[in-house]
Amino acid sequence: MHRFYKQLSYFITIKMEIVHTIKDLQAALSVLRAQKKEVGLVPTMGALHAGHASLVKRCVAENDVAVVSVFVNPTQFNDKNDLVKYPRTLEADCRLLEECGAAFVFAPSVEEMYPEPDTRQFSYAPLDTVMEGAFRPGHFNGVCQIVSKLFDAVQPDRAYFGEKDFQQLAIIREMVRQMKYPLQIVGCPIVREEDGLALSSRNARLSAGERKNALKISQTLFESRTFAAAHTVAEIQKFVEDVIAAEPGLRLEYFELVDGNTLQKIANLEDTSYAVGCITVFCGEARLIDNIKYKE
Ligand code: PAF
Repeated sequence: MHRFYKQLSYFITIKMEIVHTIKDLQAALSVLRAQKKEVGLVPTMGALHAGHASLVKRCVAENDVAVVSVFVNPTQFNDKNDLVKYPRTLEADCRLLEECGAAFVFAPSVEEMYPEPDTRQFSYAPLDTVMEGAFRPGHFNGVCQIVSKLFDAVQPDRAYFGEKDFQQLAIIREMVRQMKYPLQIVGCPIVREEDGLALSSRNARLSAGERKNALKISQTLFESRTFAAAHTVAEIQKFVEDVIAAEPGLRLEYFELVDGNTLQKIANLEDTSYAVGCITVFCGEARLIDNIKYKE
């Protein structure tokens, strides 16, 4: 079907359904599968913004049926305070998802996804031992637990993830490869505010002053890309560290220049054809992540 009519047909004939159990979701999807419909999945933790909307719109455009999960996954929070404070905005999320053309919102309870503790251990070293993996012990194990449960429940043909969580995307690709899930992972570009700040559900926690400070993160990454044309990896590293350190209100957790496939630090830009700078910065209480490609 032509993409325009496919999208249009959602608005005309398909009313978005909100389901809360795996059983109901699978019952609805099995009817569509029998009609040979292709299913796309966008896993989210809600508090949706334009970045999520871009994933959902792409999912709608590339599949017959778009399923969006909204679930704040407790097992990926190493900081329980962060879990408690995580914004929960299901009503507003559903309005946005309907506008984007999603067919199903899957919004399960914690008991539905974890009727018993999930003791599975996912280990994709060295991808999950560096950067976020080093600073947030257990985080990627929790991400893999929930994403694998969602893949099992939905059995999508394609699943969509944002490149802002660059390391997460690499680990999920590896999980899919090792567990031989018959689906395609689609990585989608970072969506930024007009001034460059990467969209994140955590931006909602920034005060006006913090929002101004946070802008320095993306600005520094963009400047570092220009700087990279005539400098070494060590010099780029120092440049980013110095600029962030000089900014009141920001605290650098890490900046690493890595190979985009292995996520291991590189010594020279010439050593790889895919170089990415990944950064995590505290801005007030909010822990913000971003990344930039130097070479692809
Ligand atoms: O990227 C996120 O929002 C979450 O880590 C994900 C993939 C939805 C799993 O809870």
